[in-house]
Amino acid sequence: MAILTFYTLFTLAAGALATLLPDTHLHRRDGNEPYPFCTTATNPSCVNSGRYVKPDLNISDAGSPGDNAYVTLLPSHTFTTSLWTNQKMPPMCYSVINHYGFRPVDFQVYNVTYSDCPTSPWVICRSINASPTLSQIATNLSKMPASMRQAANAYLVFSESWDRAIESWWEDGLIAGKGSFYGPGALVHEHGHAVDGYLLFPSIPGVYSGTSAWLNVVSQDGYSPTAYGTTSHAENFADIGRVVLIENIYPGGINAMFPNHPNLTRIANQVAHFQSVAGAYYQAGTTCDLSKKHPFPSGLVDVPTTTPTPTNTATATPYGQCGGATTYTGPTACGPGWSCTTLNPWYAQCTPAP
Ligand SMILES: *[C@@H]1O[C@H](CO)[C@@H](O)[C@H](O)[C@H]1NC(C)=O
Ligand SMILES: *[C@@H]1O[C@H](CO)[C@@H](O)[C@H](O)[C@H]1NC(C)=O
Ligand SMILES: *[C@@H]1O[C@H](CO)[C@@H](O)[C@H](O)[C@H]1NC(C)=O
Ligand SMILES: *[C@@H]1O[C@H](CO)[C@@H](O)[C@H](O)[C@H]1NC(C)=O
Repeated sequence: MAILTFYTLFTLAAGALATLLPDTHLHRRDGNEPYPFCTTATNPSCVNSGRYVKPDLNISDAGSPGDNAYVTLLPSHTFTTSLWTNQKMPPMCYSVINHYGFRPVDFQVYNVTYSDCPTSPWVICRSINASPTLSQIATNLSKMPASMRQAANAYLVFSESWDRAIESWWEDGLIAGKGSFYGPGALVHEHGHAVDGYLLFPSIPGVYSGTSAWLNVVSQDGYSPTAYGTTSHAENFADIGRVVLIENIYPGGINAMFPNHPNLTRIANQVAHFQSVAGAYYQAGTTCDLSKKHPFPSGLVDVPTTTPTPTNTATATPYGQCGGATTYTGPTACGPGWSCTTLNPWYAQCTPAP
């Protein structure tokens, strides 16, 4: 599943909601709780049990009709990459890596220059342990129309050991995900957040999905295209964007994908409004607009090249064990005048320093 945005998005969207419009018009099936202030965190049953009213368009998962449309109908673009060798990193890559407890030194930074935007590269910060190759990630990103892709300026690719999926830090132009989430469906969704927070609402802070213009249209419909879209206005907006992209690239549009679907009219106002404000960005085969593109990251930070001090600062006793098999969790340092000598793959011992 394509996942959510940086948490302050919720705070900001909630603040905007409170002042602009008390919204009670996306309904739960049981009719008891106003949308969207129900998340799996506050109420585990609210989304998982499918109690929200929604059209249930089958567009999100890999292999679904919507995802297939992106895979087959969005053209990829050629690109060149160049590795940064200056031991620097965009500040957002650096702080998000640290934020989640990873080490910046375990990531490599590249410029990726696409043929649909030849003078202005994007940045990919890739964990050396990420599952897809740089080329696979860059190829999948190349399918995002340049007019959407320009809402972001950098991509952070975690290894599969990251305990999250994929997120948009829209204010700063960063999309961060683990490698297995760099598929077209998730990328369309996450770029939708960047369009929402950057292209449509460049003044910080704010998202278009928090404005009264959008909330009024949502109220007219009262439905979201997906279960995930019912978790917040921002997620609903990003998933309406999925529908709009299908509408614009699929022959015959969303009505041809889901002939006679009884619920398409239930999101029709949102689709039409989204088209009017952002439809131009949701077209295949576009080029970037340098006056709109999220600027290349600035304020680059130095990446420490030395291995950080191990958090385990205890020292082993003279002739004591200081290393071993991968399951060894004891001290790995020896006291002054002693050094850790590996005797075999399973055992290392503090011996007098030479
Ligand atoms: C249409 O929406 C209703 C109400 O949410 C839902 O019960 C029904 O399953 C939907 N129909 C389809 C075909 O998705
Ligand atoms: C969604 O579409 C896929 C591919 O056509 C199909 O295998 C799957 O059963 C569908 N899921 C639902 C919930 O309709
Ligand atoms: C990456 O792109 C930036 C912006 O165009 C440029 O200043 C920098 O020299 C490039 N770095 C590499 C390694 O290509
Ligand atoms: C990239 O997209 C292809 C489909 O176009 C998909 O099969 C692959 O899994 C994607 N890569 C990742 C890392 O998700």
